[in-house]
Amino acid sequence: MPLDSLLPSPAVVTPGEGALILSGSSTIASDSPAVAALLRELLAPATGLGLADTMSADPSMSADPSMSADPSMSADPSMSADGSMSSDATIVLSLDPDLGIGPEAYRLRATPAQVRIEAVSEQGLIWGVQTLRQLLPVEVFRPSRVAGVPWSVPAVTIEDEPRFAWRGTMLDVGRWYKPVAFLYRTVDLASMHKLNILHLHLTEDQGWRFEVKRYPKLTEVGAWRSESPLGHDRDNQTDGKRHGGFYTQEQLRDLVAYAAARGITIVPEIDMPGHMQAAIAAYPELGNHPDRRLEVATRWGIMKHVLNVEESTISFVTDVLDEILDVFPSEFIHIGGDECPKDEWKASERAQALMRERGLTDERELQSWFITQLDGYLTAKGRRLVGWDEILEGGLAPEATVMSWRGETGGIEAAKAGHDVVMAPNTYVYFDYYQSADKDTEPIAIGGYLPLSTVWEYEPVPDALMGDHAEHVLGPQCQLWTEYLPEGADIEYMAYPRSCALAEVAWGRPDESYDAFLDRLGRHLTRLDLIGVNYRKPH
Ligand code: ACM
Repeated sequence: MPLDSLLPSPAVVTPGEGALILSGSSTIASDSPAVAALLRELLAPATGLGLADTMSADPSMSADPSMSADPSMSADPSMSADGSMSSDATIVLSLDPDLGIGPEAYRLRATPAQVRIEAVSEQGLIWGVQTLRQLLPVEVFRPSRVAGVPWSVPAVTIEDEPRFAWRGTMLDVGRWYKPVAFLYRTVDLASMHKLNILHLHLTEDQGWRFEVKRYPKLTEVGAWRSESPLGHDRDNQTDGKRHGGFYTQEQLRDLVAYAAARGITIVPEIDMPGHMQAAIAAYPELGNHPDRRLEVATRWGIMKHVLNVEESTISFVTDVLDEILDVFPSEFIHIGGDECPKDEWKASERAQALMRERGLTDERELQSWFITQLDGYLTAKGRRLVGWDEILEGGLAPEATVMSWRGETGGIEAAKAGHDVVMAPNTYVYFDYYQSADKDTEPIAIGGYLPLSTVWEYEPVPDALMGDHAEHVLGPQCQLWTEYLPEGADIEYMAYPRSCALAEVAWGRPDESYDAFLDRLGRHLTRLDLIGVNYRKPH
């Protein structure tokens, strides 16, 4: 029964009487051609339904929001008294800026005659469409035509809205290049779970994946390594196989548009000043030993080779950021900032001289200086910098948002200082950690132990921030670091079903027991079975 399998669980569900059956003569009236197209695309493979546009879709509901203030509108017979679209279409997708609900909220009302979804934004409509898909028989998730299923939608009224504006998944494509098709699939699965941020970790010591037109060697050299660890890094074995790949700007633009049509913003990360060995291998002048040649890293871990702190290096990275800004419209741009060993700066006379020149007392302040340059640059371009919690060390840049990964401490400190934070603590949402205490029965992973129940229990607003500072918690985000996840199927095994629990936490967990969640999850997993997701069985 679909009503008890909705995931993430909507805020308010009120069952009605009867059901609507979609058929070949069913129609759509929509204020958003894009969301109508998405709905057709989601339903067509299994149902074969064309869902034609009905002629009674109200043409006056164009994108111009000022229209609803026009007094002549009340004379239009297709408008109801409150100015919203009325139609005899089977499915109505209505955009109404005056609904008085949140930016991503939606209302869905299904009767035996019609399904009507209303929202103030296309994003709200998209989430309503994802809920509608889950209201249909589960066979709707099959990839090809299913005969003999009545495509029924139970009568119901749903009022729904996310708890958090940031509902993120981070995917590390630096350690292992993933085919673009996998990124599309990742977007589809995230959208199905109403997760709205895909943070792409595009650069690493072991591989640079973002095409930069001005500096072609970043991908010609930096996207390729000679070999990779075989088994666990500590086993000291390598596979002897060249590995690499990168995404062209055109591929990423297409992905950004595809994601946007599914309610998802892609937040790109260029990780600096540490985790930059691939870039330094491509352009040695970026490093602290310009006379030495480095290789793109072939081992996992934290590398000592980091960017130097010359003005010319700041220019280089802002050039790279310019191309990032051109491809990614995201308000937030991630600049990394984590795990930057200070050994090279300590040993470098030049770095020490620059530190004194800039009136900085230690290397932490030097890193803070570096990040602050980027913060100023991004702010001037109308964007917002986000970085891992190490950016707090040596002083947080004025406009920075902090992604708290070493537990919640960094997030608490930043929020108390008035900065926005994304909660990504390794203790709750590092999905590269083992899912079972019995590690021998699991695929090799980086370590840790993070079962499904721990993710489900997670409360993104720590007690220390309840009250005034809670508003600075933008939301939670899971991390998929891929040292030990070379293939897409390996990633899905770690991501699901923990991402289902994360979706509940981020959207707003209902007041129910963990066992009740597991029951609902069990029904939801049938959908993932039909899509062919390689999830870990919860029991
Ligand atoms: C991180 O896990 N180094 C952010």
